[in-house]
Amino acid sequence: TDGKSTNIFWHNNPAGKNERVKLLNQKGCVVWITGLSGSGKSTLACALSQELHNRGHLSYILDGDNLRHGLNRDLSFKPDDRAENIRQVAKLFADAGLICITSLISPYRRDRDACRYLLPRSSFIEVFLNVPLEVCEGRDPKGLYKLARDGKIKGFTGIDDPYEAPTNCEIVIGWHDGMCPSPKATADEVVFYMTKNG
Ligand code: PPS
Repeated sequence: TDGKSTNIFWHNNPAGKNERVKLLNQKGCVVWITGLSGSGKSTLACALSQELHNRGHLSYILDGDNLRHGLNRDLSFKPDDRAENIRQVAKLFADAGLICITSLISPYRRDRDACRYLLPRSSFIEVFLNVPLEVCEGRDPKGLYKLARDGKIKGFTGIDDPYEAPTNCEIVIGWHDGMCPSPKATADEVVFYMTKNG
C-alpha cells in the first residue's frame, strides 16, 4: 500500500464547533508569527498570550523549538520537514476554539500559505517580524549564526538557506532607525487588529 489509511469513517461530535465558540466566548484562529531566528518570535508569542489571558481569552503557543523537542523531534530542517513542522497542528487547535499562536521561522511562503488556505479568511493572521538579518545575527542569543557562518550548521535560515518575507500579510512589525516596538506594544497592536476583525 502507499501507507495511507483506508476504511475510515468520520464521526460527528454534537458538542461541535458552534458550541465551543459559545462556551469559550471566542472564535478559534491562528496568529502566525514568522521571522528570522533571533527576531523575537517567542518573546512576542509569550507577550501576546499574556495579553489575551489578561483579557479572558484562551490561547496556546506552538513554538518551533519546543515542538522539535517533542511531537516533531523526528523532523530535520530540510524543506519538506520544515513544511510538515508548520502544517500539522495549528488548524486543529483553531478548530478546537483556541487562539493558536505559532512561533516558527516558517521561511517558505508556500508553507505559510498552505495553512492560511486551510482556514476561513479572518481566522489566519500572519504577523511578520521584519527584523534585519544583521540585527538578528548581532543578537545571536543561541550562538547559532556564528556556527552557521563557521560552516558548522548547514542550511541555516538567512545564511545558506532562504527566508521568503511575506508580501501581503496582515501585520508587519517594522524596524526603524535601529529601534523596534516593545513586545508589549506589538502584542497590543495584534490584539487591536484581532478585536477590529472580530
Ligand atoms: S522552521 O524553519 O519553521 O521549521 O524552524 P523552527 O521550527 O521555527 O525552528 C527554528 C529554531 O531551530 C533552531 N535551528 C535552526 N533554525 C533555522 N535553520 C536551521 N538550520 C536551524 N537549526 C537549528 C534555532 O534555534 C531556531 O530558533 P529561533 O527561535 O527561530 O531562533
